[in-house]
Amino acid sequence: MAARSAPHMPPAFNEPHAEERGLSTLRANAKVCERCDLYRNATQTVFGEGPVDAEIILVGEQPGDREDVAGRPFVGPAGRVLDECLHDAGLDRSLCYVTNAVKHFKFVPRGKRRIHSKPNAGEVQRCAWWLGGEIESLKPKLIVALGATALYALMGRGVGLTKERGKVLDSVVGLPVLVTIHPSYLLRIRDSSDREKERSRFVEDLQQAASVVVKLSKP
Ligand code: URA
Repeated sequence: MAARSAPHMPPAFNEPHAEERGLSTLRANAKVCERCDLYRNATQTVFGEGPVDAEIILVGEQPGDREDVAGRPFVGPAGRVLDECLHDAGLDRSLCYVTNAVKHFKFVPRGKRRIHSKPNAGEVQRCAWWLGGEIESLKPKLIVALGATALYALMGRGVGLTKERGKVLDSVVGLPVLVTIHPSYLLRIRDSSDREKERSRFVEDLQQAASVVVKLSKP
């Protein structure tokens, strides 16, 4: 898996990584990351977690309020939705590596609350160094892009979520990327029948992830 450096490359693969650095070194280095300003207000770096031999990497956007405090990805409300849908799709989260495109929580304070704020392209580009390293170290069979920020980090500009949703795309490093929604989208749908429909589509996407991996494992 060769990483290249060029301005048009997707953020996660834009800077070369030395493979031998390994996941634990990456994790330790990411703890003190100051590649962009988001570290200033966040509690801590929220690095990915999961087995080193995971066949699937699930990539979200950035840690939320709960994740920022816990120091673990997808442990808040969106994580609960993700866990339930993975279960319904027959996927075991503990066998997947779960991470985010951006490793620090970006928020705006409102009273006592911290309101999620979408990371900008520059922040995704700076942070995708870690995502690229995680992918390089783990060498999964499949990456699942959960939402538009992850899709941008993995595929670059001009690849739209609505158009590509449910498809398996080829990344520049040769690994397949399955495109789907971010689970927090389901939390924002007010109408229960719409939400149920979208949830079923999400579960179908995750089932597809499972069958892609099975197909890729066949000799
Ligand atoms: N949303 C994300 O994209 N990642 C998390 O870890 C939590 C919420």
